[in-house]
Amino acid sequence: MSMSEHTNPLGDKPIRVALLGCGVVGSSVARMLVESADDLRARIGAPVELVGIAVRRVGKDRSDVPVDPALFTTDAEDLVTRADIVVEVVGGIDPARGLLLKAMESGASVVTANKALLAEDGPTLYAAADAAGVDLYYEAAVAGAIPILRPMRESLAGDDVTKVLGIVNGTTNFVLDKMDTTGAGFEETVAQAQALGYAEADPTADVEGFDAAAKAALLASLAFHTRVKGADVFREGISDVTAADIAAAKAMDHVVKLLAICERTTGQNGTSGVSVRVHPAMIARTHPLASVRDAYNAVFVEASAAGQLMFYGRGAGGDPTASAVLGDLVAVARHIVAGGRGPGESAYADLPILDVGDSVTRYHISLDVEDRPGVLAQVAQAFADTGVSIETVRQHIRTNSSSGEARANLVIVTHAATEAALAATVDALAASEVVAEVVSVMRVEGA
Ligand code: HSE
Repeated sequence: MSMSEHTNPLGDKPIRVALLGCGVVGSSVARMLVESADDLRARIGAPVELVGIAVRRVGKDRSDVPVDPALFTTDAEDLVTRADIVVEVVGGIDPARGLLLKAMESGASVVTANKALLAEDGPTLYAAADAAGVDLYYEAAVAGAIPILRPMRESLAGDDVTKVLGIVNGTTNFVLDKMDTTGAGFEETVAQAQALGYAEADPTADVEGFDAAAKAALLASLAFHTRVKGADVFREGISDVTAADIAAAKAMDHVVKLLAICERTTGQNGTSGVSVRVHPAMIARTHPLASVRDAYNAVFVEASAAGQLMFYGRGAGGDPTASAVLGDLVAVARHIVAGGRGPGESAYADLPILDVGDSVTRYHISLDVEDRPGVLAQVAQAFADTGVSIETVRQHIRTNSSSGEARANLVIVTHAATEAALAATVDALAASEVVAEVVSVMRVEGA
């Protein structure tokens, strides 16, 4: 008996694939499906047939996509009922949600790259997959080509993940990396990133951290077996990061990164829960994440038994994202051939999501103060009063050229403190008569 006879219980019955969307990712998926058809057939044990591609306009020139033009349709509602696997690379909440629910009700498994939809309404999609007995796979939704969700769902399913620290947005990593190497400001660097095609014309979703927050919610849900929505994630973007912040980080041999941080932790009232947040933070240049340059992504995972793991690669782009989509497609198609399903939702731990005030980290605080006796003592007292311990203090003397008034810039790095205690410290400093300005406050992570 030949290998193919042995592994193909469906005979030559093709697995029908419907593709929703034919933009940058969709066209790569379509091309790879066609060009790799023989290899995919051998890996799956059955041929894959592309039965349609739903687009907004059929008349557009798509000569770069090597498929029969008759496959393009605007009738996505009908297409999802004619497939065994529906691949969705359109994005957004609606109409994607309705189409995927209809696909699953019609018996199709779903492969999607839609982080926004999963972070808003993942449990509804998982419930639909369970009800229909089909698969819901979404590796491409977080960090593009990097295999990170399957390791979370499967490889680490026997371990306890305690922390996930990720650079999961390429646009912001590109901008922060360029600010670090050129010393330029935020606006100028975003304009450069737009000109090079790294940032969208409207970069809000990336620079304000919405994209990273959705990805953090998906990572935390899998890591901690708990439902975490995008709206549960504390979020601060990078639009307030200045060239001075980057220079301050450099001065202590750190870099600034937009980090997605998911942690098992204990709140101030003793509640054990999860903390999920996205914000810019300084990390030491010696930390593995500091070496993630340009628009690359990386996810650093800590688990009780495995210890530290690092996943690195391209987080966006047509072919890299299509690689993750096709990997899911092969996995799902193999289940169709062999029978059975992949893992469904795992939310049994149902841990509380802690307030950001409970999160614990170190802080870098830059203050402009008067330069006279007793100022340092008063500043130190504000930290003492709120229970925040100081790790280092650096002072630079500055003289106001017009008034001749002596000013000092104080840079204080704290030991680990709660966000709530630090906020109280900053309020006290801002109100203090010896502090002219709280110039910046930035978290320091990854010690
Ligand atoms: N816009 C995202 C990024 C890629 O800049 O990483 C898609 O999630």
